[in-house]
Amino acid sequence: MSIEQLAETAQAMVARGKGIIAIDESTGTIQKRFDSVGIENTEENRRAYREMLLTTPKLGDYVSGAILFDETLRQKTVDGTPFVEVMKKAGIIPGIKVDAGAKPLAGCPGELVTEGLDGLRERLEEYYRLGARFAKWRAVINIGEDIPSGTCIEANAHALARYAALCQEQGLVPMVEPEVIMDGDHDIQTCYEVTEATLRSLFGALYEQNVMLEGTILKASMVVSGKDCPEQADVEEVAEATLMCLKSTVPAILPGIVFLSGGQSDEKATAHLNAMNQPGLNNPWPLSFSYGRAMQSAALKIWAQDLKANVGKAQETVYARARDNGLAALGEWPG
Ligand code: 13P
Repeated sequence: MSIEQLAETAQAMVARGKGIIAIDESTGTIQKRFDSVGIENTEENRRAYREMLLTTPKLGDYVSGAILFDETLRQKTVDGTPFVEVMKKAGIIPGIKVDAGAKPLAGCPGELVTEGLDGLRERLEEYYRLGARFAKWRAVINIGEDIPSGTCIEANAHALARYAALCQEQGLVPMVEPEVIMDGDHDIQTCYEVTEATLRSLFGALYEQNVMLEGTILKASMVVSGKDCPEQADVEEVAEATLMCLKSTVPAILPGIVFLSGGQSDEKATAHLNAMNQPGLNNPWPLSFSYGRAMQSAALKIWAQDLKANVGKAQETVYARARDNGLAALGEWPG
């Protein structure tokens, strides 16, 4: 696979005014989401839910790509069209979550390392054949008393770099996601320092593993106050701290950065993105969204009330969230 093709895909993922919808919840994670609204976690309900999301009319106006879970990449609409075909027609690039989840890191209590490198080359080869053109791997960095350790940050950066190199070898754009978790009572400065150390380590590891940054997308967490911190930074502070942190650590050659929502409210996730895209900030890369919950939560609640009759209404909500975030990627929200 040539670097030109990878770069072209990466650039399309962060096309002007567009972002990514993350619908790659593992079977365990979607269980939690379905439980919260009283939907049974069956394969058919998961299929119907993802069909509702992916067939949202005109979703491609604001969405460049969607991250799927393994099961979803193989599923079809009720009339037998593969989801991948539906997406291609809508101008939405298929992506796939390829990590096997964050597991306790031995020797480091309270910390996690993401697994999934074994057999990854073969899995990527199959995902490419099935139509995926980018792949996501999520590392989890927790903040707490005496954590994160350098050991945890480095172990996760190393795994991210190994996966990213394999992706590029197999023709997929790696979307590297080192998520600094919002849980905790730490202040925004602590989040800044942890995010800075995490990104420095990540870009060092990507360099060591010969990953081509022109064909890589960063999925970043924003620099925010811990969820239980008594003093909550406002939208301007979050935007300023996040931009400062990214500009200090992320090479300008990267085609783009997308953010996760991480438990922020819909409104906050959009407002933060919008604030980071105001004119005059001289950002070296496009900044857009790759939200999961902040794209889906409202629609899931509506769909849960009637899995058949409410498809259209739920899709209107998905479209509205896509539009809001698409405008925020241009700094033009609420439009
Ligand atoms: P959230 O936006 O819900 O954090 O999900 C994004 C994601 O893909 C996390 O891995």
